[in-house]
Amino acid sequence: MSTGSLLAADLVIAVLAAAAWLGGGAASAARRRPLARWLAAVALLATLARAVTITALARAGWWFAAEKVLIAAPLSLAAVAVAGPRLLRATGDIRSVAVPLLFAGYADSAALLVTVLHGYPASAGAGLLAVAGIVGATAVSWRLLGAPPSPTVSRTALAVAVAALLTGTGLAAAPGAAPGVPHDHGSGDARPAGEPTRRFTLTAATATVRVGGRDVAAWAFDGQVPGPELTATVGDVLEVKLRNRDIARGVTLHWHGYDVPNSQDGVPGVTQAAVLPGQEFVYRFRADQAGTYWYHTHAVSDLGVRMGLYGVLVVRPGPATGVDVTVPVHTLSGLPLPPARTEPVAAGTPVRLRLVNTDSTTHRYALAGTPFQVAAIDGSDLRGPTSLAGTAVLIPAGGRYDLVFTAPATPVALFVDGRAVYATGPVSTATGGWPVLDPLTYGAAAPVPWSRFDREFTLVLDRGLDLHGLLPRYAHTVNGAADPDIPPQVVRLGDVVRFTIVNRSQTVHPWHLHGHHVLVLSRNGEPATGSPLWLDSFDVRPGDVWEVAFRADNPGMWANHCHNLKHADAGMTLHLMYRS
Ligand code: C2O
Ligand code: CU
Repeated sequence: MSTGSLLAADLVIAVLAAAAWLGGGAASAARRRPLARWLAAVALLATLARAVTITALARAGWWFAAEKVLIAAPLSLAAVAVAGPRLLRATGDIRSVAVPLLFAGYADSAALLVTVLHGYPASAGAGLLAVAGIVGATAVSWRLLGAPPSPTVSRTALAVAVAALLTGTGLAAAPGAAPGVPHDHGSGDARPAGEPTRRFTLTAATATVRVGGRDVAAWAFDGQVPGPELTATVGDVLEVKLRNRDIARGVTLHWHGYDVPNSQDGVPGVTQAAVLPGQEFVYRFRADQAGTYWYHTHAVSDLGVRMGLYGVLVVRPGPATGVDVTVPVHTLSGLPLPPARTEPVAAGTPVRLRLVNTDSTTHRYALAGTPFQVAAIDGSDLRGPTSLAGTAVLIPAGGRYDLVFTAPATPVALFVDGRAVYATGPVSTATGGWPVLDPLTYGAAAPVPWSRFDREFTLVLDRGLDLHGLLPRYAHTVNGAADPDIPPQVVRLGDVVRFTIVNRSQTVHPWHLHGHHVLVLSRNGEPATGSPLWLDSFDVRPGDVWEVAFRADNPGMWANHCHNLKHADAGMTLHLMYRS
């Protein structure tokens, strides 16, 4: 069983255990003896089953089980110890076991709340709040069911609840360790770009665009979605003038996957101010990495990108040869882009399909009718790619794959989630059942260039209640905190840095570090055995543990976030910061 399914199973069993204890308590209060016994038996079984799931999770990694071992397990044990013996001895009035069963239900519910609302890391504050809740609820039940214990027990319970509540609240409300991220706009350029050789102007404005025969309201660069394709050749100096006509919430340009100097990175509030209506900003950088990239606004990025403020950036090593097409996939107002396109290609022509996923969730791509190779991922060429056929690829949010093949005499078609997007002629192949390529085992290996790491960071991705803002929110968290309270990761120029990224939530988090490509070391304890993978976007699935590394060679303040941009906006953003 994968760790992701274990996490889900454990959650289901925990809900079942809590509900069965509570139901058992209610049934015995209502003197429904058979029902009460039956529910209590279910609760007991579920509690035992949790011993199995929690142990398995702890073995998969402490991050997955910390609060379950430290808080849920002791509470469940207490629940069984209190409720179990009473149940066995309850020969008289079944009502006498109502409070012990309810106590067990409160204990399991409180532990469940700790997991769902607080998560990792386990904290004394959360544990104490749970205890306060359980003791308080039990005391109330005693009163309501007219079975109050002796005044001493009652008074002690009250004292425990109040003490736990006060201490727990104090600990939980204590300010986090996060120093604010200094927003020093425009740190000087480490690499002066030189005289521009390619000049572009992009004007952002509200627009109506036509998709699949429908008029759709959009935010567009130069009136089109996607924005114009920007192309350059290695050695060019790009100058892109961004103008904002009427996007009230501001616009910037972030060069996704392009490791530009920090001042050109386009993150509002970090590397520049958002460009407001009537304003402009000029980006300039040297095109020294060939490959497939994209650009998008980073101001209100979730909404902005969804509404259409994105486009493709292609940097070629030299003049384009053969057929070279970009396929930026996007969902605009629920409609899929790009529209399907069919063009015949002469047999023997080399073809490169540059697949770009500009959405916030993974897409599945399948190329039918020809063997092909994955030549590059996230702009970096793979080493020794082998020929594939009948194999699909999954591209994470923000990611890019370059597929290459030599056009056969028969038609070829690219399907995205089953929809033909690009074809050289009619193809009817069912690709839905194809296996999916694992890039970690594809191509020829090369040794990892580092044997030791100067800095190591662990990012545990989860959900949790964030009480630090104006309004409480159920945030997407990193190490239990949400933006802007996640401490920045501080490195020095030249450091070799290792990140361990752990997903203990129930959703995929496509991870994206700005300004650097990371080398994948391992996933779920299995070392990467294929071509070195230098990625800027990778899917960390529920239960996954990824180890990646990079050299800190691009000074500045860099966003490091989930590229499901809803998650990024809902807390899952932190920063990598260079200290001199
Ligand atoms: Cu493609 Cu910070 O984003
Ligand atoms: Cu996410």
